Amino acid sequence: MNGAFDDWMKTVQAASENDLSAYLPTSLPAATVVPAKLHAAMRYALLGGGKRVRPLLVYAAGALFGADAAILSRAAAALEMIHAYSLVHDDMPCMDDDELRRGKPTVHVAYDEATALLVGDALQSQAFLVLSEADTIPPARQLAMLRLLAHASGSAGMCGGQAIDLDSVGLSLTLAQLEQMHQLKTGALLRAAVVLGALAGKDLDPAELGALNDYARAIGLAFQVVDDVLDATADSATLGKTAGKDAADNKPTYVSILGLEPSRALAQQLRLDAHAALAPFGEKALRLRELADLIVQRKA
Ligand code: IPE
Ligand code: IPE
Ligand code: MG
Ligand code: MG
Ligand code: MG
Repeated sequence: MNGAFDDWMKTVQAASENDLSAYLPTSLPAATVVPAKLHAAMRYALLGGGKRVRPLLVYAAGALFGADAAILSRAAAALEMIHAYSLVHDDMPCMDDDELRRGKPTVHVAYDEATALLVGDALQSQAFLVLSEADTIPPARQLAMLRLLAHASGSAGMCGGQAIDLDSVGLSLTLAQLEQMHQLKTGALLRAAVVLGALAGKDLDPAELGALNDYARAIGLAFQVVDDVLDATADSATLGKTAGKDAADNKPTYVSILGLEPSRALAQQLRLDAHAALAPFGEKALRLRELADLIVQRKA
């Protein structure tokens, strides 16, 4: 137990929830505004669940260079909107066909498939709107942040990884192919969280960016390795999503290709790699170090 870290985490999670719901009223319309069903479903997908790991990374990276809280809150909200959209689509029948997410029925089950499709589309647009509305940041840096988010979300990032994931059903990938898939489908948005948080504070020099990229690559891969391990070892009630899905769907994962114990060992090694990458930042990287630990040691 680490009391100070737990307190910090709860504070950021509560701030993110508040930002996503109320701090951006014009950006995320109330469920009573037409089209009411779409807005209600967007709120259903986004609010009241999730570990908020990406907002936590944004704030932790923001602490490196004393970033402005208003910019961090928009960057964190934008990332969580893209992430929530990716989950809504990931769960749809044409992708993983899952009925449980964040302890609740998935959006296409609670609403319908067309609504789930539109929720994802609309959350993605909202993300860019929210970040573009940050008005206390130099325009060139804001543009760099928007480009970073777009790149991480698209075919060279999360969507590309999801495409590889779907094309890989029933195949036995090499470790290099598996790592590439994981780095894209999950690592890209986590890297974006780290770099956006830091960029909210200042323009990054190549050494700073290199160190943050090394950290992000390690935690990005570790996050999905642990997701694969938990899918194979935890139960649905603990995860809030369907356990055992990867094996049932014949998906190549770290567990299926490397085995359970080597996957756990890899996650631990990546945790150490992440710590090592943060050395240049000293004490200011405390929360980033603690988040690397959380990502590897989490039980859900
Ligand atoms: C689940 O992400 C999907 C992956 C990218 C592995 P999280 O484990 O961060 O899901 P929430 O946001 O806490 O529900
Ligand atoms: C999903 O990976 C990654 C994204 C949503 C981009 P998974 O399909 O393994 O995620 P879970 O296990 O359903 O959360
Ligand atoms: Mg999937
Ligand atoms: Mg899935
Ligand atoms: Mg999974």
